[in-house]
Amino acid sequence: MPKDQAATLRDLAARKASQKRRAHHSRVMVVASGKGGVGKTNIAVNLGIALAQRGSNVAILDADMGLANVDIVLGLNPRYNLSHVINGERTLMEIMTRGPSGLGIIAGGSGVAELADIGQRQLERFVASLEELDNALDILLIDTGAGISRTVLSFALASDEALVVATPDPTSLADAYGLIKLLAIRNPQAQLRVVVNMCENEKSGKEVFDKLNGVAMRFLSRKLDYAGSIPRDAMVQKAVQEFQPFYIAYPRCKAAIAIGRMAEGLLGDELAGNARQAQEGPRGITGLFRKVMHLVKQ
Ligand SMILES: Nc1ncnc2c1ncn2[C@@H]1O[C@H](COP(=O)(O)OP(=O)(O)OP(=O)(O)O)[C@@H](O)[C@H]1O
Ligand SMILES: [Mg+2]
Repeated sequence: MPKDQAATLRDLAARKASQKRRAHHSRVMVVASGKGGVGKTNIAVNLGIALAQRGSNVAILDADMGLANVDIVLGLNPRYNLSHVINGERTLMEIMTRGPSGLGIIAGGSGVAELADIGQRQLERFVASLEELDNALDILLIDTGAGISRTVLSFALASDEALVVATPDPTSLADAYGLIKLLAIRNPQAQLRVVVNMCENEKSGKEVFDKLNGVAMRFLSRKLDYAGSIPRDAMVQKAVQEFQPFYIAYPRCKAAIAIGRMAEGLLGDELAGNARQAQEGPRGITGLFRKVMHLVKQ
């Protein structure tokens, strides 16, 4: 075979292999809020478990640089975090610990801040590690810290889907609207879903959503999707004190039932083809981190 033809074939084979490797992209969903303490971590963890119990391979990235939120809710203490992946000591699959129902936990730790100045050589290894995770996972949920810091915003701006958590409290609603406004302007492709947490009942939760959606439609010409509401439930606090997810410890409590319904809604959207994927540019977890690295450098 002529030399150039062999090279072309090799090239083609390499491209095919890389297409095959990249064929799978995880669904990436960021859990964010304007105001802190509204229930993001509890929702991310329990929703993750509910999705895992329905057959999805799910992991949570704890992108909160302050207190290690997810670890506390689950009573875990992971040894490695994103920083070890960036340094090349471990791969993402190696640092992922497994929680209840097989839910994967990836601690961001100091690695989240290090994303801003990752070098070229580190980058290649890191991207290979991201692609491996993209192939393994169906869904990556990202738990962010309170407020609209640069990193929180970067993850929110880089995700295809955002789950904005608000409570009926007026300041939480105003802050949720602020975040929604930012996302609507700077990440117009993203699907914006709202969860109303700590409401009195389903009806009042839906009313809170309708109010927020009305404002978004009027001032941003943006329709929001309703992910559901979670009632204020003493079992949530009880489970937190016991370092257990309420979905496991109290599966019949009102909050757990609401989380189960939310998980089914999200999976139903996927079946109906309503879940957003980036239309252009890099996709999945690899795409998310490429965008985040670009945004944190700005
Ligand atoms: N549905 C609920 N019913 C009762 N209490 C709740 C509910 N959701 C959350 N909480 C309470 O609110 C506290 C804060 O929740 P969580 O830590 O999940 O919020 P967060 O948004 O992640 O906070 P941060 O912004 O600090 O990361 C919990 O410890 C729990 O006591
Ligand atoms: Mg939290």
